[in-house]
Amino acid sequence: MSEEPTRTLIAGNWKMHGLRAQLDEIDAMACSVRERPGNLDVLVCVPATLIARAVQAADGLIAIGGEDCSAEEAGSFTGDIDAEMLRDAGATSVIVGHSERRRWHHETDAIVAAKAKAAWQQDLATIICLGETGAQRRDGNALKVCGEQLAASLPTIKAGARISIAYEPLWAIGSGEIPTRDDIVAVLGHLRAALDTRFGSAARSIRMLYGGSVKPGNAREILDTPHVDGMLIGGSSLLAVEFNAILDIARERSPAVNCPLAQDKLS
Ligand code: PGA
Repeated sequence: MSEEPTRTLIAGNWKMHGLRAQLDEIDAMACSVRERPGNLDVLVCVPATLIARAVQAADGLIAIGGEDCSAEEAGSFTGDIDAEMLRDAGATSVIVGHSERRRWHHETDAIVAAKAKAAWQQDLATIICLGETGAQRRDGNALKVCGEQLAASLPTIKAGARISIAYEPLWAIGSGEIPTRDDIVAVLGHLRAALDTRFGSAARSIRMLYGGSVKPGNAREILDTPHVDGMLIGGSSLLAVEFNAILDIARERSPAVNCPLAQDKLS
């Protein structure tokens, strides 16, 4: 992740998808970055089982991340994976607080904050997810809910921590629906103001992502929305043909400069 707040981050989230055969997709994404680097950070978060192989397939051209990490360090936590293990496997980033973790694994804001801290201990860049449900939006509570999640899920910033906040309205995830431009501006503007108030100039390095039904057909409009510094992409990150189309759109917005890609510094 760059120190520049405006460097666009295009991040994929494979969720519980992907066997070894799908690593051809990572290979094809890496080819796209090799041919047309652009001034972008490109990250794909994959299941833990694929991280080491995905790092090889990415060939230092795209960063590979985990989709979750334990808040704990090594210990008796059968089935869990800690941040050091992700780092050891070659991940440079991790998603924490995805709504699917919050919903199916009952992760509270406090747990998400503890996971973010654990990730920072291992120098993993973090994407901290939040967003309102459809009912909360209909009740006019989107700003309140997202503001409260931000306050409680983001620990006090550790110097040098690389952080992105992903606004992912739950009703937009996997549904094909996205919020209006005005709705995204309202939520991200609210979150940006809260970050400024809480962290002052240190907040400037925090990137704000939009996630939820991002597709090649809507990526340009989303990236052109004020406050959007990048996107977190689920379904459309599984196939290189779609993800690469989104990368092409992002490159138009952030034209290439001479930026040698160093895998360890990505995302
Ligand atoms: P989607 O998922 O792009 O498939 O809607 C986004 C996410 O859950 O991160």
